[in-house]
Amino acid sequence: MNTPERPHILQIGPLLPLLETWLRDRYVVCLLDDAPDPAAFLAEQGARFTGAVTSLFGISAEQIAALPNLRIISNFGVGVDKIPLEVTRARDIAVGNTPDVLNDCVADTAFALLLGVARATPEADRYVRAGRWGQPGQNSFHLGRKVSGARLGIVGLGRIGKTIARRALGFEMDLRYHARHPVADAPWQYESSLVELARWADFLVVITAGGAGTRHLINGPVLDALGPRGFLINVSRGSVVDEQALVRALAEKKIAGAGLDVFENEPRVPAELLTMDNVVLLPHIASGTEETRQAMAQRVIDNLDLFFAERRLVSEAR
Ligand code: DGY
Repeated sequence: MNTPERPHILQIGPLLPLLETWLRDRYVVCLLDDAPDPAAFLAEQGARFTGAVTSLFGISAEQIAALPNLRIISNFGVGVDKIPLEVTRARDIAVGNTPDVLNDCVADTAFALLLGVARATPEADRYVRAGRWGQPGQNSFHLGRKVSGARLGIVGLGRIGKTIARRALGFEMDLRYHARHPVADAPWQYESSLVELARWADFLVVITAGGAGTRHLINGPVLDALGPRGFLINVSRGSVVDEQALVRALAEKKIAGAGLDVFENEPRVPAELLTMDNVVLLPHIASGTEETRQAMAQRVIDNLDLFFAERRLVSEAR
């Protein structure tokens, strides 16, 4: 009896090494980056792939067009803003993502940034390392801002937003949120105007989905409303914040500071931010713990396996 051939999977961009191993154990995997001319490779061999795996690199409409037998895209990550869903819907291609398993770590990172920028811990660390602590002629390290009991505005109250809200309870923070609509089971005060939420908040945490619908949601007027005592924290997508407006607001001290895990053109970070002490910059690591990345890898595999076995997904992005 012939063993049926394993599905061919196109891998777009590097993945967690563990996930690459798991994929190769189950499927015939081809890394697009290995092709000297990826477009020519897809034109020649695209028809053999029924699945694709990607991450923050996404997949373009052109690449999907070159994959006539593509049935599933399994994304390593909850955000699918780099996958053209209008194209996958029209072609009836399933799109899997990795929600829930990363809620805790992304929420933790939001607080790491919030505490980091409010209490200036990265700057204080640099101060100690530079040998400035206790040096004659050095002023003592500047005062930070109190987090416990402060006003937290959350932009986007999905699964991660709610986890951030629950963390905030431990800090006895006063909480309000903005979303397109009030969230049915949310006990916190809804603010229909983002500008008003920013005006009220000491800390504005952005955790809404990326994509065209939220591009530059955080713009000049929102930053003006946040004001010189307010901090912006972004753990969603760089595209949600008008980065030039943010750089201007920070340079002109229109806001107090920012904690950023994501940027508009990753891995490029605006040069101006690199010299500012009131910003904390992370290389898009909100979900980046061993435990969570392994759980995300497992979900990528589970989505593929279930799809090829039963044409279903554990978690489908819509
Ligand atoms: C996600 O899941 O979309 C994260 O941004 C990737 O870590």
